Amino acid sequence: MNQIGVGLLGFGTVGSGVFHALRSQEDVIFRRTGTSLKVRTVLVQNHEKKRIPDVRSILTTDFSDVLKTDIQVVVEAMGGVEPALTYVKQAMEMGLHIVTANKELVAKHGVELERTARRKGVQFLCEASVGGGIPVLGTLLHFLKSNRIYRISGILNGTTNYILSRMSDEGDSFEQVLEEARRQGYAEADPTADIDGFDAAYKLSILGRIAFEADVPVSNIRREGIRDVTALELNLARRLGYTIKLLAVGEQYGENGPITLGVEPTLLSITHPLASVHGIYNAIHLEGDVVQDLTLVGQGAGDLPTSSAILEDLCNLFVLSPPKRSLSREPLLLPEEQRGGVRF
Ligand code: NAP
Ligand code: HSE
Repeated sequence: MNQIGVGLLGFGTVGSGVFHALRSQEDVIFRRTGTSLKVRTVLVQNHEKKRIPDVRSILTTDFSDVLKTDIQVVVEAMGGVEPALTYVKQAMEMGLHIVTANKELVAKHGVELERTARRKGVQFLCEASVGGGIPVLGTLLHFLKSNRIYRISGILNGTTNYILSRMSDEGDSFEQVLEEARRQGYAEADPTADIDGFDAAYKLSILGRIAFEADVPVSNIRREGIRDVTALELNLARRLGYTIKLLAVGEQYGENGPITLGVEPTLLSITHPLASVHGIYNAIHLEGDVVQDLTLVGQGAGDLPTSSAILEDLCNLFVLSPPKRSLSREPLLLPEEQRGGVRF
C-alpha cells in the first residue's frame, strides 16, 4: 500500500473540509488509486480555538513542526500571501509537493512558485483556487489542449452571487446575506476581497494565464465590485426582464491580439444562460475555435465542493499520469520516475 503523509496548513472551512473528506473518501480513494492519504499534522494560528477531538493531537502553531513530520505533500488552506508564500516555498525546497486553494497566492506568485516546483522536481497544483468544485483548470489543461480559447466569461465568486441572488429573489438586505455567507464559510476572511471583486479578479488572472498562455497580472484587470448595486436597481432590472451578475470576462481575439480582462456588475437578460446561475453556484463559459462553446456550472465555494478539487489534485499527484498543468509557457519538468503514460 502506498501511504502518503499530508501536512495541512489551515483548519478553517477548507482545511477542516479536506480533513473530513479524506476520511469519508478513504475507501474509495484507496480502491481507485491504491493510495492511502493520511493527514499527519495541521497548522493553525490559534491553539485555544475549539476543535474536533480527532485533530487536537496533530495540531501545531509552529510551521517548522510540519516540516519535521513524515509527509510528502502540503495542502495550503490558510489564505493570504504571507506567511503562505514563505511556507509553500520552504516546503518545496524540502522536496514536498504543494496543493493549494489560495487564489491570491496563485494569481500573484503562481509563476514563481511553479518555477521553484520545476527546479525541485515537485508539483504545485491549484485546482481549488478557481470555481470551488468545478474542475475548470483541469478542463482547460487536459481537455482543451488543441483549442485556441478566445473568450472566458463567468460568475467566479460565490459570495457575491449569493448576495445578489438573495437581494433580487428574496428582497434580503446586503448586510444580512453577507453575514450569512460569512457564517456558512463562503466569504473570504476579509470579505472585501469578495465584495470589491478582488477574488474574482484573482481567479480570472489564473484562468487567463492558462487559457491565453500569457502573463495576466491582476493589476491589468479592470475591476468593480457589487458594493454600489442597490436593491432598487435589482428590482428594476427584474421587472424589465433582466438580472445583475458580477461577471468576469477575458478576451483575446487573434493569436497575438490584445488581451482584455474585467470584473464588473453586468446586466443580463433573464434568458441568458448565466442569468439562471443562482446562490453559491459559479459558472464558467469557455469559447474556443474547435470546441465552440462550453459551460461548466457547480458550487463555487464551501467546504465540500472545494475539498473535492483538493482531493482530486492529491489523487492526481500520486496516482494518475503527472498533471501537465502550467501557469507559464515553460514546459513542466517532471522527476524521472513520474514521466510516462497513465498508470491504472
Ligand atoms: P478560514 O476559514 O479563514 O481558515 C483559515 C485557516 O488558516 C484557519 O484554520 C486559521 O487558523 C489558519 N491560518 C490563517 N492564518 C494563519 C497563520 N498565519 N498561521 C497559521 N494558520 C493560519 O479560510 P477558508 O475559507 O478555509 O479559506 C482558506 C483558503 O482557501 C483561502 O485562500 C481561500 O481563498 C481559499 N478558498 C476558500 C473557499 C471557501 O469556500 N471558503 C473556497 C475555495 C478556496 P485558526 O483556525 O487558528 O484561525
Ligand atoms: N470567497 C470565495 C467565493 C470562496 O465566495 O467564491 C471560493 O473561492
